[in-house]
Amino acid sequence: MKKKLLSALLCVAMAATLLVGCGGSDKPAGNDTPATEQKQEASKDDASGATTYNVGVAIYQFDDNFMTLYRNEIEAYFKTLETDSVKYNVTIVDGKNDMATQTDQIKTFITQGMDVIICNLVQTSSAELIIDEVVAANIPLVLINREPLGDNGDESYAGILDNPGVCYVGADARQSGTYQGEIVLGLPDKGDINGDGKVSYVMIEGDPENPDAQYRTQYSIKALTDAGMEVECLADQVGMWATDKGQEIAATALSQHGDAVEVIFCNNDGMALGAAAAIQAAGRTVGKDIYLLGVDALEECQEMVKNGTMTGTVLNDHIGQSHTAVDVAIKALNGEAIDNYYWVDYVMIK
Ligand code: GAL
Repeated sequence: MKKKLLSALLCVAMAATLLVGCGGSDKPAGNDTPATEQKQEASKDDASGATTYNVGVAIYQFDDNFMTLYRNEIEAYFKTLETDSVKYNVTIVDGKNDMATQTDQIKTFITQGMDVIICNLVQTSSAELIIDEVVAANIPLVLINREPLGDNGDESYAGILDNPGVCYVGADARQSGTYQGEIVLGLPDKGDINGDGKVSYVMIEGDPENPDAQYRTQYSIKALTDAGMEVECLADQVGMWATDKGQEIAATALSQHGDAVEVIFCNNDGMALGAAAAIQAAGRTVGKDIYLLGVDALEECQEMVKNGTMTGTVLNDHIGQSHTAVDVAIKALNGEAIDNYYWVDYVMIK
């Protein structure tokens, strides 16, 4: 018995050795489309005979609540898609919110022979530089989260449209802003707590270079004015997506404008968490004498919406976005055609 088992194992080992000897010509399981030559060269076969694809993921900044969920899910989802014959070697780097650092990281990915690159740009104004480098190296590029806008401020960015190997995966930030405004419109007093005929608000913005911040700022208020509400902006400050800055801005606005502040709109939940702390410290009560809105639907904010310490948030679907980004990256790895744009919906949470 034992001998038989031993010789069976030996056969398996020999077969594995033969497979290793086959070099980089293995194709991913279940896919008849050959990967491009460049990609095949970069892929390596490990001892088990599996094809390993090298995936470079550049994140604008690790120290960001939402992008942490997003990048962890990219990694986890790649793992779930591995098979005996296909592996993904995923390298994720932190751009530390510095474009020069990220540019170097992308150049390093290229010299390392990444088979595909997923990039969350530090600055969308540097999209062309990054796209040019990656396209010249013949590597597919999946841009995520920060959309480089076209000349009309829409999804017509030439660097994406002109390059079949480049795409953007994201959510339309206009939708999230509109949902924030609609949550306020759905309140019994439509945000006009003191009944003076206007909604007096404080806006706490993310990075202003980022369309998510621009659109959320604009469309949350547009939803109110489109519905015929009068609005008054008491303060509009940049909090760079960060909780401590959100707290600081909200605290200052509350001490300057006191009870006049009826609604605090935050471009994301990270800053809303800070604003919630400032609201509490100022002795104000969400749902009673002030309203607080965020975006992302971080777990703790969903809890706060349930227990009333936050008025509402909007689910920025990091699962849907990360899975789409990975699925598209794999399509590109397989040599399949990809679209230029992939959109994932926001969901209102109130
Ligand atoms: C937004 C998100 C923010 C922040 C930002 C980074 O979509 O709502 O919390 O992560 O992306 O670009």
